Amino acid sequence: MTKKNSAPGSTFLVTSALPYANGDIHLGHLLEAVQTDVFVRFQKLRGNRAMYVCADDTHGTAIQINAMKRGITPQELVAEIWQRHKSDYAGFNIGFDIFYTTDSPENRFYAELIYKGLRDKRLVEEKEISQYYCETDGRFLPDRFIKGTCPICSAVEQYGDVCEVCGSTYDPTDLKSPVCITCGKPPVLKKTTHLFVKLSERQGFLNTYVKSGALADEVRNFAQSWLSVPLHEWCISRDAPYFGFEIPGMPNKYFYVWLDAPIGYLSSTKKWCDDHGENVEAFWSAKSEAQLVHFIGKDIVYFHTLFWPVMLNSAGFRLPSKIFVHGFLSIGGEKMSKSRGTFILARDFLDKVKHPQATEYLRFYFASKLSGSVNDIDLNVDEFVNRVNTVLSNNIGNFHHRTVVFCERYFKSEVPDAGWEESFAEKVIDQGKAIAEDYSRTDYKSVIERVQELGDLGNKYYQDRKPWELNKTDPAAAAKVMVTCLNLIRSIAVFLKPIVPDIVKKVENLFGCELSWEDHVFSLRSGRLGPTEKLVQPIELEQLDVLRGTSKADSAAAHSVDGKEQGEGVDIAVVKSLDLRVGVVKTAERIEKSQKLLKLTVDIGESTRQIVAGIALSYAPEALMGKQVVIVSNLKSAKVMGVESQGMLLAALDNGSLSIVQPDRPASPGSKVS
Ligand code: MSP
Ligand code: ZN
Repeated sequence: MTKKNSAPGSTFLVTSALPYANGDIHLGHLLEAVQTDVFVRFQKLRGNRAMYVCADDTHGTAIQINAMKRGITPQELVAEIWQRHKSDYAGFNIGFDIFYTTDSPENRFYAELIYKGLRDKRLVEEKEISQYYCETDGRFLPDRFIKGTCPICSAVEQYGDVCEVCGSTYDPTDLKSPVCITCGKPPVLKKTTHLFVKLSERQGFLNTYVKSGALADEVRNFAQSWLSVPLHEWCISRDAPYFGFEIPGMPNKYFYVWLDAPIGYLSSTKKWCDDHGENVEAFWSAKSEAQLVHFIGKDIVYFHTLFWPVMLNSAGFRLPSKIFVHGFLSIGGEKMSKSRGTFILARDFLDKVKHPQATEYLRFYFASKLSGSVNDIDLNVDEFVNRVNTVLSNNIGNFHHRTVVFCERYFKSEVPDAGWEESFAEKVIDQGKAIAEDYSRTDYKSVIERVQELGDLGNKYYQDRKPWELNKTDPAAAAKVMVTCLNLIRSIAVFLKPIVPDIVKKVENLFGCELSWEDHVFSLRSGRLGPTEKLVQPIELEQLDVLRGTSKADSAAAHSVDGKEQGEGVDIAVVKSLDLRVGVVKTAERIEKSQKLLKLTVDIGESTRQIVAGIALSYAPEALMGKQVVIVSNLKSAKVMGVESQGMLLAALDNGSLSIVQPDRPASPGSKVS
């Protein structure tokens, strides 16, 4: 956090939505992180005080169940995910001031405080309701843990809240033939007491808030349409077993994850303040003069524009100054989907795109698509390559390179002592004002268009003035061309710094200083230039294959199975080197990205292995539970579609269908097969 400016309104506390700790960071998360990070970097560049706060959203049933399946505690699971999230974001230069967790003492404290605020304002009501309960699993079933037949269109296998075929929403009790998704048994209805927040009593307050200027017009319209009818009460409690904070005075009841999730913004700030000897009140009290800015996706607007302000207000905290909402990222015109292979993880991008500047290019490409609207955003590989190569390489990179090479050659890498073209200096000041406004509105698309215009202008000027000829007849005029170009390069670098900080670092090396916002104004007329270095290397389509889906990876894996060594004969040592063991399948589940793969945990006596097996077309996961199998236990562990596999399951391929290899008589887990 840099601080130069201390006028009111010049401190920003900025957040991205807290990613769930039940999966890896994907490109959709990154779109949001880039949007936020660019905003924060812009504020810092301007000399404002800006702090970027984020955390993992760790609570809820899904995380509790995932941990249980893996035989670890939810705390262990979220600690593991937290590390992964941190390193994924770092790979893309996302500059959090703090990336914390909602499973923290600070968050418990504020969750209890805000809950008390809601109670004191008499906004909380206790009610007894009937809910589906699974007697086998001993738990109440959240909507997403029940499947059945849609009451409207009769589509089978639909969740308890919404039908993905006809789009209808309903209560889980409306679902026909409901079953528990974990055990497949029909649930029973059981009475339970829950806490509800009476939002309708705060509708007047919300009406005022949504008109306060915190929301863009289109988002405000949404919120106003929700507010045009009485708001439903909001259930903030969940029954045990649940991973979360137990509600004070209500044993076995927990705060619903969406109660404590946004409080993570506040509690993470508190943690940062404690670590840095600052006062959290400066950011969060009702009197705070800081700007509180949230970045979120369009799916969670309701939580942030209605629930969150009511929570904050009830406990005497300040309200968000701005809530920026972005649309959803699709890949090649398709929704990000695990089964289509268009679900692209940040990690896959980092591992598989073999270009040293690819992460900066992704930031640049995302920025060029972000204009501050809630429209969805499509990542198109051809457009990606084209935009990066046209704007960054051919336009700006080329302008920079020809200028610097010329200065090296004819001016011994010194900025020649000469004036500049006044019209350019004026143009840059005008554009600087417009660009600052663009950044403040998160219209990064417009920023890039303006920068591109400046690049075009520079290239044309260089071309028209022909400094290589001018230098022979009128060296002073050539010097003026160079000074103009060098100043323009510096302005462009300042304007692009929030978006592509690493590329701009090369320009900072050239001028031997760290650029701040004021440096866009022409002022450079002397000094030594650093080494001549190309700003960017063009990227090729093939280097972005990973963005075209994972179908290629699938077929590559299939090929390695029918190996070319077939029929060549192997040495007995090769066979002996395999450690084959009998195992028992403990859990089995589908891997969402793939139609063929299942993720198994297999007990082999002294340990339990996680194994990814390509048998989903031949076996339903439930059919595998408790089955004896044979595995290669000393295979090097590997990632298959992002999932760790610590061994290989043996199966016979018969007419396209797979049949698992088993010992003829039951053998104890861990028995050696030879
Ligand atoms: N944990 C909640 C947020 C709590 S905030 C107090 C959540 N998590 S999430 O992991 O599902 O999403 C985190 C953010 O990523 C949300 O803003 C969401 O809109 C965004 N995106 C998730 N998928 C996305 C795309 N495909 N495209 C763009 N953004 C997406 O919601
Ligand atoms: Zn069940």
